[in-house]
Amino acid sequence: MITAHQISQLRQEVSQQRAQGKRIALVPTMGNLHEGHLQLVRQAREQADFVVVSIFVNPMQFGANEDFDSYPRTLEQDQQKLLSVGCDLVFAPSANEVYPEGLGQQTQVSVPAVTELHCGASRPGHFTGVATVVSMLFNMVQPDVALFGEKDFQQLAVIRKMVRDLCFPIQIIGVPTMREADGLAMSSRNGYLSAEERQIAPRLYQTMQQIRTAISQGERNYQQLAEVGKTLLTQSGFRPDYFNIVNSQTLQPAQPGDREITLLVAAYLGQTRLIDNLSLQG
Ligand code: PAJ
Repeated sequence: MITAHQISQLRQEVSQQRAQGKRIALVPTMGNLHEGHLQLVRQAREQADFVVVSIFVNPMQFGANEDFDSYPRTLEQDQQKLLSVGCDLVFAPSANEVYPEGLGQQTQVSVPAVTELHCGASRPGHFTGVATVVSMLFNMVQPDVALFGEKDFQQLAVIRKMVRDLCFPIQIIGVPTMREADGLAMSSRNGYLSAEERQIAPRLYQTMQQIRTAISQGERNYQQLAEVGKTLLTQSGFRPDYFNIVNSQTLQPAQPGDREITLLVAAYLGQTRLIDNLSLQG
């Protein structure tokens, strides 16, 4: 397994593989890898002959009061894990390599509509940071296929729209969310939770499941259901950011006739912001 810190080395390695007719996969990450990330790499392995994983804590997608500085950086452990799942190349650039002229001078990719609500409303500029760095990674690696987790449901929708709108010749694959045994979606941010918060955390998924049950039993007042969801989370000890019931395709508020529905939830436990989602047939 090769580790490249420079774009020039990355390009050189990948173009050698492409010259041999190899199919290239890219899995973009911010590192501190867990089983959810590794699942993406395993699926990439099935899709391609040469698997590139990028590890870059992207400053552009963090707000001023967010956890950019404290975000865990664990390159050596990540390399070990990636070796064990058959990654071929780790691309771990510095911020200066990616943004040599600084963030203020950086050309940006801004995706409209699908970024407006949910995390887009709570984290202004976040998805522009994500779309910008992912489009840069796409141009650096030029993969045939790129894999993203459904854990970040809105992010996946943003990437799909960006790829359609900008005609990137890249196939996007969404990978189902990996969960801990108690249902908590795996996330690098789970490491911030205290022992007590970690006990409460699975209530996020359980609450979504409760609301899903109500919908499957015929309840269609989505606004009221969302309020119930928020109340349940508050009673469990969360500070809900949003609890939205949306059309899975448009991410707009679900209407009673919609067939494909997704619950999108973000909630704080102490200082830690957790997100999760659950899709169902309406
Ligand atoms: P990061 O949070 O490191 O996640 C990298 C990829 O792993 C994303 O596609 C995410 O959806 C996926 N992932 C995270 N937890 C998962 C889980 N429990 N099950 C399945 N997949 C999971 O998302 C980012 O980084 C960044 O925004 C990035 C796309 C790299 C751009 O900077």
